[in-house]
Amino acid sequence: MSHSSEQPLERVTIPALQQWKDKGRRVVMTTAYDAVAARIADPIVDIILVGDSVGNVCLGFDNTLPVSVAMMNHHLEAVARTRPHALLVADMPFLSFHVGSEDTIRNAGGFLQRGADAVKLEGGAKRIEMVRALVDCEIPVMGHLGLTPQSVNVMGGFKVQGRTPDTALRLLDDAYRLQEAGCFALVLEGIPAELAARATEFLTIPTIGIGAGPDCSGQVLVLHDVLGLTEGHRPKFVRAYTNGFQLFQEALSRWAADIRKGAFPGSEECYRLPDQLRDAVANWVPSSSTSR
Ligand code: KIV
Repeated sequence: MSHSSEQPLERVTIPALQQWKDKGRRVVMTTAYDAVAARIADPIVDIILVGDSVGNVCLGFDNTLPVSVAMMNHHLEAVARTRPHALLVADMPFLSFHVGSEDTIRNAGGFLQRGADAVKLEGGAKRIEMVRALVDCEIPVMGHLGLTPQSVNVMGGFKVQGRTPDTALRLLDDAYRLQEAGCFALVLEGIPAELAARATEFLTIPTIGIGAGPDCSGQVLVLHDVLGLTEGHRPKFVRAYTNGFQLFQEALSRWAADIRKGAFPGSEECYRLPDQLRDAVANWVPSSSTSR
């Protein structure tokens, strides 16, 4: 449901998300990497994620590994300038939370100083120490488990996770540990629906699924995927609600065709000289004293 644009929307907060889980209200989250996308999404969604997916979706990389803190800062600042009502979450990119807690706190703290309400980071047990360090500094953390794109090399590709007894139970264990370490929500990506349902049932914090079935507390998809702006292989869990790529190309083609046949710009798209200047301009010739 889209909200009315007439009155300012109430800001989404972390305690509100917790209450929504308790009441069974589903959370809607999408990505934005710039002000245009943020303005499109904000009246409709509850959480805006400045995702490191900016790397593959917008910057032409094959995966998210090349995305740096500086890149994230650039995109986060653009989104934050729109002052969204949605909870604004910034993704911690690869290597920004692995080296040590001081480095992690500075990177995440920098995101909050740029307007993020919270950060998201990928990983389970190995990242608990960093999650604790951030929470201790009043930096809210959203966890991210399952098909975590920053682990693409370890996973041997973008593959569904949690399908063996070992990995399924470890995921549940990691989910619990992240909650106990202070995460306020958890993204569950690319895992069997039953596993996500079980995590959602026993965790008190909300779960947000992407390729994790319908029984999460909410859902997230990359905005460009929902709008049909991404080309190439589309994972099974993506539902595109329009073919934005084709729609935009059709509009651009009509504009190009109008230019080529002299139909753009029309007279209503032109500025005009004041009447008293028209003769002077029409009769202008280069001055003979002008030398180049
Ligand atoms: O970077 C991203 O867009 C994400 C979401 C897909 C969860 O991590």
